Amino acid sequence: MSIAVFASGDGSNFEVLVEKSRRQGWPEPVTLMLTDRPKAQVLERAKRLGVTAVVFNPSDYETKAAYEQAILSVLGEFGIRRILLAGYMRIVGPVLLEAYRWRILNIHPSLLPAFQGKDALEQALNYGVRWTGVTVHWVDEGIDTGPIIEQKPVLVEPGETVESLRRKVQFVEHNLYPAVVRKWLTGKILPPDGRESGRH
Ligand code: GRF
Repeated sequence: MSIAVFASGDGSNFEVLVEKSRRQGWPEPVTLMLTDRPKAQVLERAKRLGVTAVVFNPSDYETKAAYEQAILSVLGEFGIRRILLAGYMRIVGPVLLEAYRWRILNIHPSLLPAFQGKDALEQALNYGVRWTGVTVHWVDEGIDTGPIIEQKPVLVEPGETVESLRRKVQFVEHNLYPAVVRKWLTGKILPPDGRESGRH
């Protein structure tokens, strides 16, 4: 049984998840990276790290359900038990959610429920908050709405720019996400329905 990371962009979180899973000898390794973008930078990282990468371009499928069914069969082939979203810019649909209920986590660059959706860093800066942060949460049918597992704050300093804030937020993400996943793998974090679903 192993873990898949879904990513659409740069893939820095994917990389730290792979590195820490190896260095710390996680009981379930990260064995698959899935992207919806054929040109995503994360593909280079997967190659460098020697992690199998698959591209599922939604425009190759007639419906979202067909797209997710195709993903599901590959996840089955790889024996994937848990999914980590790391900058995956799509809403997870009912097909994947039902098959992986409470076995999908996401990381979001704000203190949810503030600043859900895209451009969370820009939203926080535009709003003028003094503190923002990072949230790891279970994935449900909404956009960044699932039950919160862990949060860490990040101070917004005078003169902060999107880029400077991104660096600070990502530094926190790169520590928080692997730490939460490790706890989940060792049974220290239980799903919201209170039991480990071991099948799939
Ligand atoms: C992260 O900030 C994450 O919180 C958000 O998307 C970004 C992905 O960054 N969901 P990367 O691709 O892991 O570098």
